[in-house]
Amino acid sequence: MGPSEADYQQAVAAVQRGDLLGLPTETVYGLAADASKPAAVAKIFAAKGRPADHPLIVHIAGAEGMAHWAAEIPEAAKSLAQAFWPGPLTLILKKQAWVPDAVTGGQETVGLRVPAHPVALELLNRLIAQNTSAGIAAPSANRFGRISPTTAQHVRDELGDAVAVVLDGGPCEVGIESTIVDVSRGTPVILRPGQLTPAILATVLGFEPVIELTKTGGAPRVSGSLESHYAPETRLYLLDTDPLLNYLNVVRHRGGRCGVIAHDLPKMVAQPHEWRMLPADPEGYAREIYAALRDLDALQLDAIVVQSLPRSADWIAVADRLKRAAA
Ligand code: TXA
Ligand code: MG
Repeated sequence: MGPSEADYQQAVAAVQRGDLLGLPTETVYGLAADASKPAAVAKIFAAKGRPADHPLIVHIAGAEGMAHWAAEIPEAAKSLAQAFWPGPLTLILKKQAWVPDAVTGGQETVGLRVPAHPVALELLNRLIAQNTSAGIAAPSANRFGRISPTTAQHVRDELGDAVAVVLDGGPCEVGIESTIVDVSRGTPVILRPGQLTPAILATVLGFEPVIELTKTGGAPRVSGSLESHYAPETRLYLLDTDPLLNYLNVVRHRGGRCGVIAHDLPKMVAQPHEWRMLPADPEGYAREIYAALRDLDALQLDAIVVQSLPRSADWIAVADRLKRAAA
C-alpha cells in the first residue's frame, strides 16, 4: 500500500513550491527538492546542517534525462546507465554550465542517479508531466553525519517539521547508499562502495574499477568519505567474536548494558544486553544495519558492539559504513 493520489499531489505541490520532501528510494530515504531551484536546494542544507560545499545527487526519471544535466557522457557512463539504471548507482559527470552551484557544491561535476523505487519514479514522472524540472536533488534524509533513514518514520523522527511531506514507500530494499562511480576523469573510479560491487561493475566495464576513498583535505568530493560519517550517538565498537563476548561480560559485571549487532553468533550472553541478529549475507545485512543502529542508539546503552564482518570483497560496502560509524 503506497502513497495515495492525494499524497502524490501534495508531494508534487511541495516540490513546485520549493519545499522539501521525504522521498523513498531503493537505497535510503532522500531529502528532496527541485534541483533547478537554488533556494529550494538551500533548504536541504539548512535542514541537514550540512556544509554548503558538499555536492548533492540529482535524481532523474531515466537515462534520457542525462544530457540535460551532464555536458559530456562518456561511453562508460552510457553502458553503466544502460546496465544498472534504475538502480543503486550514481554517476559523476561533467556538468552543464547552468547546473546550480548549490547542487554541485561549486564543482565542475554533477552526480546523477535513476532510483529503482516505484514511488520515486512515479513522483519524477509526475513532475515531468507538469513540466517541472525533472531533477530532484536528494541527499540522504538524515542530519549531517548521522545514520541514513531507511523508513518514512526514520525521516520524520530525524527531520520533523523541516519536511513538508514524507512519501511512505515502505522499508528500503538495499538499505545502504548507492555506489558512486566517477566517470568524469577518464577511467571510472568508485568514490563510494555500495551494493554494486567492483566485480558487478566489471561485467559491464570489463575491469574492476578501483575504490578511491578520500578522507580529508578541502571540500570532500564525497561527503560520505568523511571519516566519522554514518555515526550513531552511542559509541560503537567493531569487535571479533572472542573480544566481543569478553567485552559483553565485562560490561555486564560493571552493571552496564550494550547493544549487540551480530550475524553469526549464538546468543550466548543474552542478558542484560540488547541483541540484533542480522542476516549473514551482505545484501540482507545492508538492508537491516541502519535500522538496527538507529534502534539501539535510542536505548541509552553504554555502547553498541558490532561483530566484525567477513573480509571478502562482497562485504566492502557495509564494512566501509561500519568503519566510519565506529571512527
Ligand atoms: O543512495 C543514495 O545515493 C542516496 C539516495 C537518497 O539516493 N543519496 C545519498 O546522498 O546518499 P548523500 O548526499 O547522502 O550522498 C551523496 C554523495 C555525497 O557523498 C556527495 O559528496 C556525492 O554523493 N556527490 C554528489 N555529487 C558529487 C560530485 N559532483 N562529485 C563528487 N561527489 C558527489
Ligand atoms: Mg548521506
